[in-house]
Amino acid sequence: MTIFDKINNIDRSPLPIRSEEEIQDLVTELMEQMTLKEKIGQLYQAAPEGAIVEGLHFDIEQTTEELIRKGQVGSILSLAIPEAMYFLQELAVNESRLGIPLFFASDIIHGCRTAFPINLAMSCSFDENLIEEACKIAARETSKKGIHMTFSPMVDITRDPRWGRVMETNGEDPYVSRRLAKAYIKGYQQDHLNSYDTVASCVKHFAAYGASEAGRDYNTVDMSDRHFRMFYLPPYKACVDSDAQAIMSSFNIFNGVPATANKYLLDTILRKEWNYTGFTISDYTSTSEIMHHKIASTTKDVAKKCINAGLDHEMVANSYIAHLEELINEKTVDTKQIDAACRRILAFKYRIGLFDNPYKNIYNNPDSFALTPSDRKTSLEIAKRSIVLLKNEHNTLPIPKSNKLALVGPLSDSKRMIGPWAGYTKTEECVTFKEGLENTGYIFSHAKGCHLETSPEDLDLMAKAIEVSKNADYILLAIGEDDRLTGEARSRSDIGVTGNQLTLAKKLKALHIPIITVVFSGRPLELQWFHENTDAVIQAWWLGNEAGNALASVISGDYNPSGKLTISFPYNTGQIPIYYNHFNTGRPMLADHPDEDYKSRYVDVPNTPLYSFGHGLSYTSFSYENLHTSSDQLVGDELLDIWVDVTNTGKVFGEEVVQLYIECLDFSVSRPLKELKGFTKIALETGEKKQVHFQLDKEDLSYLNIDNEMTPENTNYRIYVGTSSTVTDFITVSYRLK
Ligand code: GLC
Repeated sequence: MTIFDKINNIDRSPLPIRSEEEIQDLVTELMEQMTLKEKIGQLYQAAPEGAIVEGLHFDIEQTTEELIRKGQVGSILSLAIPEAMYFLQELAVNESRLGIPLFFASDIIHGCRTAFPINLAMSCSFDENLIEEACKIAARETSKKGIHMTFSPMVDITRDPRWGRVMETNGEDPYVSRRLAKAYIKGYQQDHLNSYDTVASCVKHFAAYGASEAGRDYNTVDMSDRHFRMFYLPPYKACVDSDAQAIMSSFNIFNGVPATANKYLLDTILRKEWNYTGFTISDYTSTSEIMHHKIASTTKDVAKKCINAGLDHEMVANSYIAHLEELINEKTVDTKQIDAACRRILAFKYRIGLFDNPYKNIYNNPDSFALTPSDRKTSLEIAKRSIVLLKNEHNTLPIPKSNKLALVGPLSDSKRMIGPWAGYTKTEECVTFKEGLENTGYIFSHAKGCHLETSPEDLDLMAKAIEVSKNADYILLAIGEDDRLTGEARSRSDIGVTGNQLTLAKKLKALHIPIITVVFSGRPLELQWFHENTDAVIQAWWLGNEAGNALASVISGDYNPSGKLTISFPYNTGQIPIYYNHFNTGRPMLADHPDEDYKSRYVDVPNTPLYSFGHGLSYTSFSYENLHTSSDQLVGDELLDIWVDVTNTGKVFGEEVVQLYIECLDFSVSRPLKELKGFTKIALETGEKKQVHFQLDKEDLSYLNIDNEMTPENTNYRIYVGTSSTVTDFITVSYRLK
């Protein structure tokens, strides 16, 4: 029987549901039979055969297959070839002494075969239901690729668009990231893990990786404990509370110790404060990299420092299988550490049903379960809602289909709409902007205009662009960057548009034809010139399979854009870091006196971002009235109800993200000028009014005080409810501890 026949004959009976107690008993029974070497083997995640691991000194010579036969591999990274997975699993189950199955893990970040918008784009939808739906689709497709765990969601907070991985985040705000992270995990794991349609979630990168100094990837992170716990830590806790099965340590140093060997993170917070029962996994060779961080000088030191800090599963590097047995024998590592790590990994394997059916997710024809028309429809719906309308002067948009358009720009017909974490999606299956306009029935001329990077061809390309544009009613200018400039290890010192894109824009401007700038990027770019010199600006990110159709539906008005920024867009790189939930200064610049001297301000740009957190325009308008609360004082554990009436005062249907912020008026430490504490997305027909309700409790008002205790203190707060973080109308409430 060939492997393909075996795969076709895999028994897909329902998997038994076991209690956690039963699982722990099974793990105890199994571990009593295991040798120390076999327990250590469970702590190793092997790279797929042939993976080129840069700069890593492998301490062992055996191949992965030999190690699997010896029961010395716990999991395999980034493999999704059915016959190869079946072959390796058979080795583990039939040839190793105890037959402990492997688990397979991959990076399914925003879609497995169906490509959804990049995570930063999806976060701008503020649509938890759609994100959950997208993750359910990703889970189905992933579980048919033989994969048991995805390294997602990525919940790192960042305020620095120089950092290329900003595209994988949910933006700058901990409250948004907390809520969306829950939606990701609910979509991946659903009601139970031992099913044939779910995938386990490994949240990353723990911790504070998004605060890498100067936006340079893998760089140092150093901050006060209060800042860490108020801004960077909450989204990881939300994932732990949502039953994430694993947590990945980050590459960066955190407050002096690399996260991968950081006992404060991996043990004090995860185990002692949070009682987390999932396992921890390093990032790709991040264990051995602590030698570069100069806290270990040999791979044996690496193994000792990481296991003693609480790092359970070593990704690709293999200091554990090379040295832990020796360290145990020398008594510099306690067997309890090994047992605890091994137990967590075996419990995970029982929990997802691997011991009941080691071949459960392997199919010969995974693509037959993927990218259905309904999946593409979901991708389209979330893509539409991820688009952010940043400017729309004189209601330039939407554009009737009867108008003559010119489509110009290096990204006008690009299929690179997936970003660097493509999973098993295919760029050729993406609808380009040009194709989307064609599908929508627009008549338009087209020219590339220039390359993304300066090219000798640009002069000719720009001349052609002018030629095809001069008789148009509107020019659609598609600029930005593609995934070669953003993503992991793609930090930029300057977030301006590259090459001759600005030159092209200025030449088009001279035609005095309305220009709609459409920005494709994985990060906020410097858009000041486009804001000041074009009539409309759309942030189009990379929107996945349905990119072109989603954009065309917004251009035509078939869909009224509703996206809101989850990250601030600076005027220029020099303003970074810039974010809405910043502290005041002792000399705040007053908006109505911007030139007053001896104030905290730049002399060359404003203090505010070009586009603020929560900003996003609509083709309709919304009024906010009758903001009121159940009381003007909150005592102890009482709840405060807040209501506001939102009316669609415009001429078309629209969706609105209603946002609630608080401002603490004085506290034992300084607090941000605004803190997002609620959002809800509503849909309103023209003229329709809805009363929106929020509730706050003392937890929502709390902050770490001067003694690092979480408390709301006896003080006063302003409550703002509006369409973005720049909302000014408020009501005041007081809080009393009793
Ligand atoms: C990468 C990334 C991490 C990913 C891992 C496995 O370097 O930092 O996000 O999950 O390796 O591919």
